[in-house]
Amino acid sequence: MADITTTLCGIPLRSPLILASGPLSWNAEGIRTAFAAGAAAVVTKTIRPDATVNPVPHIAAAGRGSLLNTEGWSDLPARRWIEHELPALRDRDGVLIASTGHTPAEVAELAAPLANAGADMLELVSYRAEDAAPMVAAAKRAGDIPVLVKVSANWPDLVQIVGDCLAAGADGVTAIDSIGPALRIDVESGRPTLGAFAWYSGESIRPIALRAVAQIRLAYDVPVVGTGGVARAEDVVEMVMAGATAVGTHTAPLLQGMAWFGKTQTHLDAWLEGHGHSDLAGLRGAALPHLREIVPHTPLRFAFDVDLCTACRRCVTVCAYRARQLQLDRRMALDETLCRSCGLCLTVCPTRALSLID
Ligand SMILES: Cc1cc2nc3c(=O)[nH]c(=O)nc-3n(C[C@H](O)[C@H](O)[C@H](O)COP(=O)(O)O)c2cc1C
Ligand code: SF4
Ligand code: SF4
Repeated sequence: MADITTTLCGIPLRSPLILASGPLSWNAEGIRTAFAAGAAAVVTKTIRPDATVNPVPHIAAAGRGSLLNTEGWSDLPARRWIEHELPALRDRDGVLIASTGHTPAEVAELAAPLANAGADMLELVSYRAEDAAPMVAAAKRAGDIPVLVKVSANWPDLVQIVGDCLAAGADGVTAIDSIGPALRIDVESGRPTLGAFAWYSGESIRPIALRAVAQIRLAYDVPVVGTGGVARAEDVVEMVMAGATAVGTHTAPLLQGMAWFGKTQTHLDAWLEGHGHSDLAGLRGAALPHLREIVPHTPLRFAFDVDLCTACRRCVTVCAYRARQLQLDRRMALDETLCRSCGLCLTVCPTRALSLID
C-alpha cells in the first residue's frame, strides 16, 4: 500500500482527505459521520456568535458535479458549538478544525473558546480580503493552536493577502472558498436558480482552485489545503501536484454521499500503486517547476498509434484549421502547412493514440 499520510501545520493526518466547511459538518453528528466514513479531518460549518437564517431553498444542483448555494454560516450559534457540539467530539478519530470569522472582532471573541472546547485547529474565513490578516492576528493573540486562513480566488491581490496573513502568523492556507457571485436561470420558468446570485462550487471550479494553490505555493513555502472541485482520486493527485499538503472537498461528498471518502481513499491508493509511487508526498508540487519554464515556440511533432486509434474522429472535428484527416485506411494525415500547433487535438483523444514526440 502506498503511504498517503501527510502532516498539516505539525498535525499528522492519516490521509490528505478533509471534509471542507459546509452543511455536512453542520453539527457533531454530521462531523462524526464524516470521520467514520474516512475523512482524516473535518472543518466545521463556519461558527459565528449568532446563528444564520438561510433563505429557502438555498442549495441547487448546477450540472457537471457542481452546486450553487446561498447558504450563510452555521445555523447553530457559537454558544451551542462551544457547549455541546465540539465537546461531544472529544473521543473522535480525526482532526477537528473549527471554522470561524467573518471579522477580527468575532475571531477575538471565539478563537479561545473554540480551542478550549476541543478544536485542534482554526480556519478563518471572511468575504472581505482586508479582514483576513487582522483575523489571523486576533486568533494568534488568543491562543496557540494552528491557524489556517481561507482565501477566495475572487481576490485579485490573492498572493499579497496570503503574504500579509503569513506575516500576521498564519500557519497555513485553505484555498479556495466557493466562487461568485454566479447565476443560473431555469429557462422553463424564467427564474434565477435559488432566486438570487449564488456561490458556485464543485468540479467546474477546480481549475481556478488549482491556479490559486499553485500561485500561493510558487510564492511561499506554506502548507495549503487545496479545496475546490475535488471529486475523484486523480483530482487529489492534481491538487497535490499543484503544491497542496492536504485536500478539502464538500460538493463531491454532498452529491455522492459520505461514502465518497472511503471510495476515494481506496482509488488514491490504487492510482499511486498503479503509477509506481510509494507515497503521495513525493508528488507534492511536481507541476510547479514547469510553470516557471520558458514557453516554447517550436512546432509540435506528433506520434500516432494506429492500434490505439478508435477512429472516433474527435481530433479531426476539433481542428479549427482543418489540418487533420483520418483516411479510410485509418492512416492519420496531418497537413503541417495548416497546423498551428495549438495542441487541442492531443487533449481530446480519449485513447492517447496521439502523443507528442519530444
Ligand atoms: C452548500 C455549501 C455551504 C458552504 N458553507 C461554507 C461555510 O459555512 N464556510 C466556509 O468557509 N465555506 C463554506 N463552503 C465552501 C466550501 O467549504 C468549499 O470551500 C467550496 O465549496 C469549494 O470546495 P468544493 O468544490 O469541494 O465544494 C460551502 C460550500 C457549499 C457547497
Ligand atoms: S495541433 Fe491544433 S492546429 Fe495542429 S492539428 Fe492539432 S488541432 Fe489542428
Ligand atoms: S481522437 Fe484519437 S482515437 Fe479519435 S480519431 Fe483521433 S487519434 Fe484516433
